Amino acid sequence: MNILLTGGAGYIGSHTAIELINSGHSVVVVDNLANSSIESIKRVETITGQSIPFFEIDLRNKLALDEVFKTNQIDAVIHFAGLKAVGESVARPLYYYDNNLTSTLALLEVMADHKVSKLVFSSSATVYGSPEELPLTESSRVGVGITNPYGWTKYMIEQIITDTAQANPDFQATILRYFNPVGAHESGQIGEDPSGIPNNLLPYVAQVAVGKLELVGVFGDDYDTPDGTGVRDYIHVVDLAKGHVAAIENIKAGTSVYNLGTGKGVSVLELISAFSKAAGKDIPYEIKPRRAGDIASCYADPAKAEAELGWKAEYSIERACEDSWRWQSQNPNGYAN
Ligand code: NAD
Ligand code: UD1
Repeated sequence: MNILLTGGAGYIGSHTAIELINSGHSVVVVDNLANSSIESIKRVETITGQSIPFFEIDLRNKLALDEVFKTNQIDAVIHFAGLKAVGESVARPLYYYDNNLTSTLALLEVMADHKVSKLVFSSSATVYGSPEELPLTESSRVGVGITNPYGWTKYMIEQIITDTAQANPDFQATILRYFNPVGAHESGQIGEDPSGIPNNLLPYVAQVAVGKLELVGVFGDDYDTPDGTGVRDYIHVVDLAKGHVAAIENIKAGTSVYNLGTGKGVSVLELISAFSKAAGKDIPYEIKPRRAGDIASCYADPAKAEAELGWKAEYSIERACEDSWRWQSQNPNGYAN
């Protein structure tokens, strides 16, 4: 298939481009580079030996998007594009709602105009809000306890896609709810390159390990978890990327929803310890107060993706830390090197 990747210059999109090409597909990338660098695409081209058509456009620009569909044969779309910083979304809600919702509406309209009916969407475990039960299955409650506009955009886009598929019997949509993506491609050439001080745990730990930040603040050690620190389901980004290949190859009419996670919970202290081993150095940390909006534990039941897509996560947290360290130590300033 020839697959359009919106936001394909970003962290998950660039890794997915490699796995799609490795599986015999072709990709076209649209990205406005709001949170990424063209360098990631160049490196994907080097790793795969394929040249990738790239269009620097904002998805909200329907005319420009229409031109991409006119000039390229597009069989399917994977929609990664979106803003994702939770704290920033609380401070700038309209910016987040406009960017994430308007771009999705424009994409769906242009897809309809060009009769492209296969769509995979990057959703998040954040739609489960405060979990009623663990592990989370695709039929667990959603929408209660979402604490920020970023999370609401994911919830709303899931609904917009579901309604679109409902109205068009030919439409084929797959919603992927990612748990916590971590790690990097084994080459050390591409990885996560957050702008400014990272909000998420693993990139923060990586920057402490490489000496850019002083110590990790552990947000609370009094949760109801085995060691008192927050527990999450960290999934290697290459496993996640392979999940997209399985999703697009098994897409079917209507809307299907899958968790992409490992099913295993890892605490903050366990993650720091695994990274410390991978980097071969101590990683200083300090217990800090809880972060507003955080939950104690969140992990997936990934059984549905295995049963229906034939996909399951293969990599361990140790391997994710090794790959992340290779990327971070070889590219201390990310793509700005
Ligand atoms: P990323 O920021 O690295 O990639 C997103 C890309 O979208 C960026 O390259 C950005 O420039 C682009 N973009 C944003 N708005 C755009 C617009 N209006 N027009 C064109 N391009 C635009 O993020 P990522 O980690 O690769 O995440 C990809 C998707 O997965 C996002 O939708 C994100 O919300 C979702 N997701 C990410 C995580 C995570 O922890 N990384 C977890 C769950 C879900
Ligand atoms: C956060 C977002 C979520 C988003 C996800 C992936 C919040 C409230 N939630 O989830 O919407 O989908 O990222 O992008 O921001 N931690 C520390 N010190 C740090 C950073 C994190 O102790 O410096 C802890 C957190 O308290 C948590 C765990 O590490 O227990 C993971 O945090 P993080 O990487 O931010 O992911 P989530 O909280 O799962």
